[in-house]
Amino acid sequence: MSRAIDVPDRSLVVLVGAAGAGKSTFAAEHFLPTQILSSDHYRGLVSDDENDQGATDDAFEILHSVAEKRLSRGLLTVVDATNVHKHARQGLLRLARRHHVLAVAIVLDLPETVCVRRSTDRPDRSIRAGVVRRQHKDLQRSLKPLREEGFHKVHVLRDESEVNSARVRLNPLHNDRRHETGPFDVIGDVHGCRQELETLLSELGYHLNRDSSGRAVDAHHPDERRALLLGDLVDRGPDTPGVLRLAMGMADSGHALVITGNHEDKLVRALRGHNVRVSHGLAESLAQLDEAGEGFRQRVLDFCAELPVHYVLDHGNLVVAHAGLPERYHGRASRRVRVFALYGDTTGETDEYGLPIRYPWAREYRGKAVVVYGHTPTPEPEWENRTLCLDTGCVFGGKLTALRYPEHEIVSVPALRVWSEPARFPGAAAPGTNTARPTREEQ
Ligand code: CTP
Ligand code: MG
Repeated sequence: MSRAIDVPDRSLVVLVGAAGAGKSTFAAEHFLPTQILSSDHYRGLVSDDENDQGATDDAFEILHSVAEKRLSRGLLTVVDATNVHKHARQGLLRLARRHHVLAVAIVLDLPETVCVRRSTDRPDRSIRAGVVRRQHKDLQRSLKPLREEGFHKVHVLRDESEVNSARVRLNPLHNDRRHETGPFDVIGDVHGCRQELETLLSELGYHLNRDSSGRAVDAHHPDERRALLLGDLVDRGPDTPGVLRLAMGMADSGHALVITGNHEDKLVRALRGHNVRVSHGLAESLAQLDEAGEGFRQRVLDFCAELPVHYVLDHGNLVVAHAGLPERYHGRASRRVRVFALYGDTTGETDEYGLPIRYPWAREYRGKAVVVYGHTPTPEPEWENRTLCLDTGCVFGGKLTALRYPEHEIVSVPALRVWSEPARFPGAAAPGTNTARPTREEQ
């Protein structure tokens, strides 16, 4: 039986094991030569002697800088070094974090006797048995803490048969949908405005499917277009369960892709019983979901908890994220990427209202991908450097807006009424006019 080792195709793979554990052999079998950065190889390059321990610092300096260049390109990188010390692993984890790629550990925890025998048998190695034993002991001490150090996944192979049967499976990240070319109808923040969503979908040419009670449970397009919902489906508006029922049905049948917004993120925490401040329309959602029943609540939790924060689509030409995303984060995965995609970023300064000023990522955007996002209500969608915000404040009495992609046509339907007063800015003018000011959402 073969054992699958799942590795994201955009990650830093850290091999861990004493000398003689078989790291280099394993790497050569499962990865391309250009993907493997071996400390011995760099020791040899800087000193003409792979065994020269005095060349270790220089070797690692080069190894790290090559890893840095590869990760900045988003290339799979495998570090072949003992990595039995926390300090060594932490340097690599920092590198992965800096480039917003996941780090995966593959631990070759072979018996000490095997490692010692193999190392001392090698004519090209001058390593002493005592050193191998110490590495083996350091690894045993590392095994438990390693799982809390920040690796996305830790795979441990314990004996030769496990190593021999291992099969590395490279998987695309969840956000990688480059093969999906559309056409799409990208839809901005719905916030519980179920009627407007149904009207907009009809305008866009979708046929709504209803259940026996007349509730919309799916919608499909005769030309096989797909809806792409930008998050913040929930809160503030009159029918959050109705919006979710339709969105979940469309997602289940493959008629829609959905990403999460900051409001879903908070709803998930609330539904899990975490202590969150019930504000910004969350109370309405929780009350409405209570009425919809426990089974539906659970379905909503499962659905929202699994939503990605961004997608890269159409061969990399289209990126969607609720609060937008600078190019350096496209197709990446880290806590920082998640927070930016959900909440945007601030400059660290505040305006005359004491509210944080948004970091103007769209103004500085020079990427080739079109980035479509929501999050900040604006009266009219306006392109800025290949970025477009589709949140036109429907729940505040504005409108619900879609972008036909790749046609780049805008389709909007007006809000039926003001469902929620934009109360955060006392004395603020009509909905949708607060574009210059930031909105403050708790993180
Ligand atoms: N080897 C083996 N059977 C395996 C794996 C390795 O006989 N299944 C042998 C290799 O041919 C080599 C020695 O064991 O002679 C060490 O394997 P290697 O992959 O080089 O181990 P590393 O963990 O890379 O050791 P080091 O840290 O010293 O580079
Ligand atoms: Mg080796």
